[in-house]
Amino acid sequence: MKQAIALEVNGDTYEVLVSPNQTLLEVLREKLGLTGTKKGCDLGACGACTVLLDGAAYLSCLMLAVDAVGKKIVTIEGLSQGGELHPLQKSFVELGGLQCGFCTPGIIMTAKAVLDEEPQPTEESLKKKMAGNLCRCTGYKKVLDSIMGATARMGGER
Ligand code: FES
Ligand code: FES
Repeated sequence: MKQAIALEVNGDTYEVLVSPNQTLLEVLREKLGLTGTKKGCDLGACGACTVLLDGAAYLSCLMLAVDAVGKKIVTIEGLSQGGELHPLQKSFVELGGLQCGFCTPGIIMTAKAVLDEEPQPTEESLKKKMAGNLCRCTGYKKVLDSIMGATARMGGER
């Protein structure tokens, strides 16, 4: 049986009717129209569906929507402010961190959580923390360069 829940996404509150077994990923994409969050494997193996919950990175394909009630959810659509891309987004554009772009929202959301916790990571640390996000196109060098490039831009701003 469906139930009414309220989800706080990118600062807005959405009232939605969901099934108890519906994932947060399905609700974001299919009910809220926030299709920036991608469905890759739908099995917890690729990272394409990563969003932030209370600032930490979560795989939305592995989370039930009902379990996200009461959390502050941020998706890729919520990163830009006042029409300005987030420094991570700018860095990916400028340093070529994406090709087809399918993995990019998930990578950027994971990177946001990583940099919030460790603003100046070493490349080794970054590689370890980004290991759950797969990309079929880039070979990862430009992804890592883009994240490292963003650290300089970000300074205190996050
Ligand atoms: S779609 Fe969630 S980890 Fe791949
Ligand atoms: S840019 Fe194509 S999968 Fe990563």
